[in-house]
Amino acid sequence: RSGPSSWRLAATLVLAAGGTRPSAAAPSSAEGFRLLLLQRSPNQGFMPGAHVFPGGVLDAADRSADWLRLFAPHQGPPRFGLGPAPPRRAAFPVLPDAANGDAGALPDDVAFRICAIREAFEEAGVLLLRPRGALSAPEPRRALALPPGLADWRDRVRRDPHHFLRLCAHLDCTPDIWALHDWSAWLTPFYRGATRRFNTTFFLCCLREPPSVHPDLAEVVGCQWLSPSEATERFISKEIWLAPPQFYELRRLENFASLSDLHKFCLDRALEGLERWLPITLLTADGSLQLLPGDELYLEDSTFLEKFLSTEKTTEEIMKEGETFHRIVLYDRHLYDIHVTVQSKCKHVYPQNYVATKSRL
Ligand SMILES: *[C@@H]1O[C@H](CO)[C@@H](O)[C@H](O)[C@H]1NC(C)=O
Repeated sequence: RSGPSSWRLAATLVLAAGGTRPSAAAPSSAEGFRLLLLQRSPNQGFMPGAHVFPGGVLDAADRSADWLRLFAPHQGPPRFGLGPAPPRRAAFPVLPDAANGDAGALPDDVAFRICAIREAFEEAGVLLLRPRGALSAPEPRRALALPPGLADWRDRVRRDPHHFLRLCAHLDCTPDIWALHDWSAWLTPFYRGATRRFNTTFFLCCLREPPSVHPDLAEVVGCQWLSPSEATERFISKEIWLAPPQFYELRRLENFASLSDLHKFCLDRALEGLERWLPITLLTADGSLQLLPGDELYLEDSTFLEKFLSTEKTTEEIMKEGETFHRIVLYDRHLYDIHVTVQSKCKHVYPQNYVATKSRL
C-alpha cells in the first residue's frame, strides 16, 4: 500500500527474560529482568544502526488459512483461545479500513502474533513455539531449543514466510500466540521524506530465562539483553541509539521491579486493549517535541498526518507554558526527556517523568 497516510502493518515483540544466568553484558540485573534489543544493520533503510525489539512487517503468510489445520483443535472462534476480545478503542487517526484488501483467514490478534513470533525467529533465531497438544504451558515460558539445520530453515523463512508454517508443522508445534500479551501500538509519525511508515502492534512476552540469540547478520548485526536502566544508560552514553518509541517503552518498563510483576500486570490488563498512538512532531526554535495523545498541545487533526507543527518559541519556553504533558522532548540524537502528567485510560502504566538534561547540559 502506498500514498499519504498509509501505514504498513507490523508487529514487534518485547522479550523480557528473568533468570540468573550470569552474563558479562548485564551482571547487575540478576533479580530484575532484561529485554532483548537487536542492533539493526547500518545498511537498513529504516532506522539504520538503531537498537530495536525484534519485529517486522505483516506478511500474507501470517494470515494464511493453512494455519487453521495446525492450530486445530484450538482454532475456534473468537480468538484461538486467546480469551475474550478486548474492546477496540477508537483513537485518532481513524482511516477508512484499508485492511479489507489483505484480510486473511485469521483474526488480526492471531496474525499479528504469528508475525511477531516469525520475525523473532528470522532476526534473532528465537523460537517461541508450543508443542501441539500441550493444552497449557506454565508461564513465564521457555523458548524452544533450536532445531538442527536452523540456518537452512531461517534462510527459507526469510525468502518466503510461508516456510514458517512448514517449520512449525515439521516440529509439531504452533507459534505460542498465548504467551504474547498486548502491550502497546505506535504509528510512525510524519518525518521529512517519510516513505516508510508503520502501524506497529507491540506484544510483550515473559520468558523464564534468556534464550540464546543468533542474529541473522543481515538485517540484524548484534544483540544485547539489557535491563531498562542499562538500556537508558547506554543510550545516553551513545553506545546504542534508540528511536523515541523504544526509549519510551524502556522507560515505561522501568516501572516493574521483577519479571513476575510485569507478567502479572500483563495478565491483569488483558481485557483492557490498546491505545494506538500517532506522535505529532512539534518543531521548536532549538529542538523538537513528540506530542502524544493527552498532551495539551496534541491536535487530533488529520493535517498533522503529513505535517509538522512548528513554533518560533524555544523548547524551554514551550515547557514553561504548559501543564498537561504527554510528550518526549528531543534535544539531540542521544538526549530525550519524557514528561507525563496524564494517566492511562486503559489501565496501562506510563513512564515516570524522565529528565536527562539537568545533569547533562
Ligand atoms: C492500524 O492497524 C490496526 C490493526 O489492524 C487497525 O485497526 C487500525 O485501523 C490501523 N490504523 C491506521 C491509522 O491505519
